[in-house]
Parts: sequence; structure tokens; C-alpha cells
Amino acid sequence: MKVKCVVFTLAAATSLLSMFQARADEGMWLPALISQRIADMQAKGFHLTAEDIYSVNQASLKDAVVLFGGGCTGELVSDEGLLFTNHHCGYGYIQRHSSVEHDYLKDGFWAMNRSEELPNPGLTVRFLERMEDVTPQVLEGYDAKMDEETRAELVRKNSEKIRETAVKDGKGLKASVEALYYGNQYFLFVFREYRDVRLVGAPPSSIGKFGGETDNWVWPRHTGDFSIFRIYAGKDNMPADYSEDNVPYRPKKSLKISLAGVKEGDFTFVYGCPGSTREYVHSAEVDYVANVSDPQKIALRTTRLDIMKKYMSQSQAVRIQYSSKFAGVANAWKKWQGEEKGIRKMNTVAEKREFEKGFEAWAKGKPCEGITDTLASLYARRNPVFRAYEYYNETVRAIEKLQMASGRPVSAKDYYRPIDEETFTAMMTAFDKGLDDCYKPEYFLKSRERFASMEEWKDAVFADSLEAKNLAEALNTHYSKVIAPQVNSLGRRINLANRTYMKAQMEYCKDKTFYPDANLTLRVAYGHVRGYSPADGVSYNPVSTLTGIIEKDNPDIFDYNIPQTLRDIYARGGYEAQPVCFLATNHTSGGNSGSPVLNADGNLIGINFDRVWEGTMSDYVFDPDFCRNISIDVRYILFTIKEIGHADYLLDEMTFVK
Ligand code: ARG
Ligand code: ASP
Repeated sequence: MKVKCVVFTLAAATSLLSMFQARADEGMWLPALISQRIADMQAKGFHLTAEDIYSVNQASLKDAVVLFGGGCTGELVSDEGLLFTNHHCGYGYIQRHSSVEHDYLKDGFWAMNRSEELPNPGLTVRFLERMEDVTPQVLEGYDAKMDEETRAELVRKNSEKIRETAVKDGKGLKASVEALYYGNQYFLFVFREYRDVRLVGAPPSSIGKFGGETDNWVWPRHTGDFSIFRIYAGKDNMPADYSEDNVPYRPKKSLKISLAGVKEGDFTFVYGCPGSTREYVHSAEVDYVANVSDPQKIALRTTRLDIMKKYMSQSQAVRIQYSSKFAGVANAWKKWQGEEKGIRKMNTVAEKREFEKGFEAWAKGKPCEGITDTLASLYARRNPVFRAYEYYNETVRAIEKLQMASGRPVSAKDYYRPIDEETFTAMMTAFDKGLDDCYKPEYFLKSRERFASMEEWKDAVFADSLEAKNLAEALNTHYSKVIAPQVNSLGRRINLANRTYMKAQMEYCKDKTFYPDANLTLRVAYGHVRGYSPADGVSYNPVSTLTGIIEKDNPDIFDYNIPQTLRDIYARGGYEAQPVCFLATNHTSGGNSGSPVLNADGNLIGINFDRVWEGTMSDYVFDPDFCRNISIDVRYILFTIKEIGHADYLLDEMTFVK
């Protein structure tokens, strides 16, 4: 791409080139505006049209994609409502159906007919009916002199009206109005929400979570991260509460499954709901993330994880109690390490500073002049208090005793007091040492005087519920009444400044097509199947196989202990090259889990479930050399259904293409 941003200095020129040029495959695009990208997609190998991806007049691929459970993506793979998503997206539901007698998490679950499918109260899926630009309606009554609070109130009221109109006369319709480009544009999203979604199948965790935390965010990967559900509807095919009379939902569109396989260089695209990215923010925000926030959160979580690990390794019962908590804490912990390193490696802070210089030279005399300084000073004010805010989240809120004392439910079944006691001592010590006293409540400072050591303080808190209650209340109140309001009010001002800055960046770089930052709305990302080189002298293939699972297999290592059946199948021979996972250059984020990965003809080749560790900075900056999404090969799903689940009957309702 030829850079057309106005360039003033040689340094700026170099930095603009590196910022905007080598960025093939970056971007998460709005389906309704995909016609702006379609020429590029086709040039890169796509065979279909914009209307095939998104249309309000005819069935299109969007009708086969759902927002699953409010935080993941899923896709329809049969005309009878059958749906694929990730194992880690279905995990909570699989767990709820599990008991000691039938542990579906451990052993897997396979309905052998429709009557064995298990309902999941509270689980919903949303189909996008349509999306449209409603900026003029949202900003009706706005004038440029309004302060941010008044504007926000206006936007809220207008959006409410738009939503109400949009869902009138429709069964199960839901609507949301979402700000794009920090509120330079608003889009209405109208969904149809189905609420009878039943569990059909899940592999044992030793397949669905193979590699566990060890392999999480890592390539080479061999995780069979999928689960299967079915959407049910009333006789009219419309959303209905659970009922035995409901019938399988007949989708407008379901995906055909490609058996052709993937190889390096193949065109692929991901259709799903990425949750959050921050690609256009000021250098001060990225500086904070990489140099303050990530390191501090990583250090605090390392301590917590070490405590959990110690007790989990001593007892099988404790391992079961804490495995889900451990996974939750470890997931972001590991991602931040890659993110911090990636931002540093990309030199993003310095590059952004250089960009800001060039931008300000261009902005001279324009209304946006000085906006980067405004942002810098807002971040300078926000960062210290935001740091305290994050400290509360990572320390105070990590102590289950204080959670219980605040009336938040903690499952007694999954509570192990020695872990919590040690966590208290470690996290409260870190809280006290890590933050200035001005961020602590009076009660905390006074109590500190009463105890000779943190150990003593801990004993008092765990012995006496009033001691715990008072401490929890003091910390909670300070957090919600003092810290959070400052964070929020500065956050609003940053948001306002970002709106100006975003708009100006789009004018400054006229020829660059800006995709809006992710906000859990439906997006299309496209790229190619591709390996990468994580380090000098090392090069990764983009495809993994069953042979790799057997290589990792180890009955003594929990994460790598595969089912005996899988060993037996492999020993029979003929499955050495069975594909398991693959890498591609699609720009994805958290929320894209479960997203369909499609080939040039729009047929399903895999399900997205992760990114590689070296590329997790892609929420801030995309590096085409390192950013890879990880997918499970659809052929491994079929293999598992057949060979492990013996649920071949499910394949009968799918459509396969070569
Ligand atoms: N890293 C993936 C994502 O962010 C998978 C997380 C679930 N798996 C795990 N081992 N914790 O969601
Ligand atoms: N594993 C993530 C998810 O659950 C996807 C990612 O962050 O790449 O959405």
C-alpha cells in the first residue's frame, strides 16, 4: 500500500512506512461494509462476493454465524440447527451437567439421539438480522458545544428509541447501538435470540483441553477445542422457551464442510465476534500497558499461581477444586507476557510517538491541533489512579475470604482455605507495598498499626468474620467511591479526546482504510494459512497432526494424558497424518473463539480458538510476521465425533464438499 499520509520528516516517513505498509492481513471488518474490502479479498484468493458474506435480501454466510453465550462465536453446520463452538466456550455448560457418576468434562458427552440432548437454561445464541449506520439518528439534537456528559446522555436516549423501534413486532428480537471509531459513527445491530440450545456432544477434556495451560497460547498445538450444540425453536421456527415440543431450528444458511484440507498459502477468513482491540490509541496508553500494567499484573498473578500450584500438586482433590480458577488466572497472565514482549519488540511506543509528531505538524492550525498533547496529559493523570484500580482488581478481589465477606458467592465446594490464607498474606502485602497510602482506605491504615505482621493480620481476618467484613467493606467502598469514579471520569475525557483524535487520524491518513476497533460486533478477518518463525533458526509449520499428540502423550503429565482409545487408534496405524490444528494470519481477538474459519469458497475448514503467544500484542499492534490465529482442523472434529464419540449419526446431517 502506498502511504499517502502527509509526511514531514525523514524519521516520520520511515515510521509511517513501517506503521502502515507491511500490514497485510491486519483488520477486522464490518460485514455490512465488506464491499470496500472485497476486491482485496478476491485479489488474495477469495472466490465469493460481498453479498455472499452479508446480505439482507438473501441468505448469506452471516446467517450461519452466531454470538454464542454472550462471549464466544458459533456456527451452524446442518439444516437442523446443529452448531459448533469451542470446548472452552461450552465448558461451563458441560460442567453443569457433570457429576461424580457421569463426569462429562472428564469423559466427554455424546447424545446418541435427539432425546438425549441436554437443555442449558440461560444459554442463548444470537443471529444478526441486520446492521446499519444510524449515526444521524443517534446524534439528533447534538451540538458541538455540548460537554461529554450531556452528549452521552443524548446518545443514550436516542439509542434507546432506535432500539425500541427496531425490536417492535419481532419474536426474540434484540437490538444494540454500538459506537464505532470512539463515537464518530454508530451502528444499529438487530439480532434474533434463540434460548433453547442443547448440548449434543463434547470430547473428553483430555482431547478438548489437551495441552491445558502448558500449551495455551502456544504453537505447536494439538487441542481438540470443540463442542457441539443444537438450537431449538417453536413450530414457527421462531425463538421459544425450552419445551419438549420445540423442534430443531432450520437456519437460513448452514455451512458446508470442506474435506479438501488446508495447506500453506491457502486463503482463509474468520467470521466472528472479536471482543476488544485498541489499535489507534495514543502512545501513552500503549506505554502504560507494556511498561506498567502488564508487568504489574503478571507479577501479582505469578505469585497467586505459584500458591495454587503448590497446593494443587499436593492433592488431587485440590487440583479439581482449583483447576477452573487456575485456568482463568493463567489465561490472561500468559497472554499479557506475550503482549508486553510483542509491544516492545514492535517498538510501538516509539513508533506511535513518531507518528504523533508527524500528525501534530499536519494538524497545525486545524481544530484538532494539540489533541495528542491533550491525550498525553489526560493519560498522565489517569495512569496512576488506573494503576491503583488494577491493583485492587488483582489483589483485593483475588482473596476469596474478602469476596465472601462482601456477600459475593464463592462456591464452598471449590474452596480450600490454606490457598486463600496464603493468597491473603501475599496479596495484601503486595497491595500495601505497591500502592501509595493515598489509595488506601483509612480503616486499612489504622488496622495496619494494630497488627505486628501481615501474618497476624491474616490470622485475625480468618478467625473473626467481623474483622474480615470490616476490611472488605472498607476496601470495597474506597474502590467504588474513590478510585473507580476517578478512573471513569478521566476515562470519559479520554474517550472524548480519542473521538477527535480518531477522526483526525482518518483525515491525516486519507488513503488508509481504517477498520473500527473490535467491540464484540460481527467482523470478517481474512488472511492465509501460514507458519512463522518465532526465533532465529526456528521455523514452524502451519499444520499439526495426531503424531504430535502421540509425541506429547504422557500418562504422568495431566495436560498430556490422552484417552487410551486414542492411543489404540493410533497404534492401529493409518492415522499418522491425521490433521489436528492449523495456523493462519487472520486478525482475531478474545471473543473470536468458536468462530468459523472458512476457505476461498466459504466452506468450513476449521474453528478458531486461540492465537500464538508471540502475536498477542495484536490487540494493540499487528505484526504480520508473528500474529497467527490457531484453529482446530474440521477434519479432527469429524475424526473425534466418529472414533472417540461413535456418534457418526451426526455426520449424516452435515454437507461435505471436496
Ligand atoms: N487462550 C484461549 C482464549 O483466550 C483459550 C483459553 C481457554 N483455555 C485454557 N487453557 N485456559 O480464550
Ligand atoms: N481464546 C480466545 C477466545 O476465547 C481467542 C483469542 O484471544 O485469540 O476468544
